[in-house]
Amino acid sequence: MTARPRLLHVVGTRPNFMKVAPVIHALSARGDCAQTLVHTGQHYDERLSATFFDELDLPAPDHFLGVGSGTHGEQTARVILALEPILRADPPDAVVVPGDVNSTMAAALTAVKVGIPVAHLESGLRSGDRQMPEEHNRIVTDHLADLLLTTSRDADDNLRGEGIPNQRIRFVGNTMIDSLRRYEQRARDLDLARSELGVEGHVLVTLHRPALVDDSAALRAVMEVLEEVATDRPVLFPLHPRTALMLESAGWHPRRVQILEPQSYLRFLSLQATAAAVLTDSGGVQEETTVLGVPCFTLRANTERPVTITEGTNRLLGLGPAALVTFRAALGELGPRPAAQTPEGWDGRAGERAAAALVGLASEGASAGVTAPSQVGAR
Ligand code: UD1
Repeated sequence: MTARPRLLHVVGTRPNFMKVAPVIHALSARGDCAQTLVHTGQHYDERLSATFFDELDLPAPDHFLGVGSGTHGEQTARVILALEPILRADPPDAVVVPGDVNSTMAAALTAVKVGIPVAHLESGLRSGDRQMPEEHNRIVTDHLADLLLTTSRDADDNLRGEGIPNQRIRFVGNTMIDSLRRYEQRARDLDLARSELGVEGHVLVTLHRPALVDDSAALRAVMEVLEEVATDRPVLFPLHPRTALMLESAGWHPRRVQILEPQSYLRFLSLQATAAAVLTDSGGVQEETTVLGVPCFTLRANTERPVTITEGTNRLLGLGPAALVTFRAALGELGPRPAAQTPEGWDGRAGERAAAALVGLASEGASAGVTAPSQVGAR
């Protein structure tokens, strides 16, 4: 009997976990591949990591690299240093990297240097903003990867436009929405806003991007507007550690805005599903609100997820004072809930399609006999 092909997944941060979980589950159900899970430890807080593993039924990682926080260079370098010996000691047939965080790019780079095929899950998204660390990670990862699994057709176009051959691109849809569909009813039943916080018709806020929260004047301006909004309706703001740090160093204290700890997957989904509106700079939240039919206001100059605007509930506000005026006015005019939208491939089955494509890649890797290249150039 020939051994099953082997896939190694690398995850590192909160938004990776819900993208990868449906793929791991679909591969387990198929049973035709062996899987290894590596957690880089880019996110290490219990609230940003361990609770997600529990709720999403992810297996415990086989390897935890413990890279932690640091500059982009430090984080990237630590992933490479810690992952390379693992890949060399026991090379899998393919490495799977999700999303656009530093761990994603670092793992893709490590794998190609060791001669292992790479699959990128959530490929082809482009904001066009070269200031964004995620944009660097997307571009590098896509150009290194052998298999590019995309969530939307515009991503396919972006990749082709950059000269990536069509045969490497596979549209599979949005695996993060598989997770949402799986947990949506439980999240609605939880009804956290009403049952635990005693509020209704709330505005949910998530902000963590350096472009906004590292600019203390901009962050303060947002908080002032949120305090005004909170005179009319509840404002719930679960704080990412980066944002918490910035608010603390700015000496800001909430008056009416309800600050929350980072929430688990299920609890955050519950707060989203029952929100009157969401204000965010997150990528995933733009997608989740689209399928939940919740009006989403994105406090960014651009988005790499245009389908959430053209087909969904998302509205791009831009950054700066005018954006906040628009947001304030739009909240005053909130009509009946928009219909929930299901962009193509956001159907709860993307994990299965991704799994089928990954088995193909790993089988090719296995039959080609992935061999770690010599350490030429190492010394
Ligand atoms: C990272 C991703 C971002 C993603 C976000 C989701 C990159 C370049 N950025 O940003 O794309 O949207 O995750 O949350 O990879 N910290 C903790 N505990 C943790 C992790 C971080 O307190 O477990 C704090 C530290 O102060 C750290 C800061 O958050 O310095 C930033 O963490 P980092 O991993 O560098 O980036 P994120 O802002 O989380």
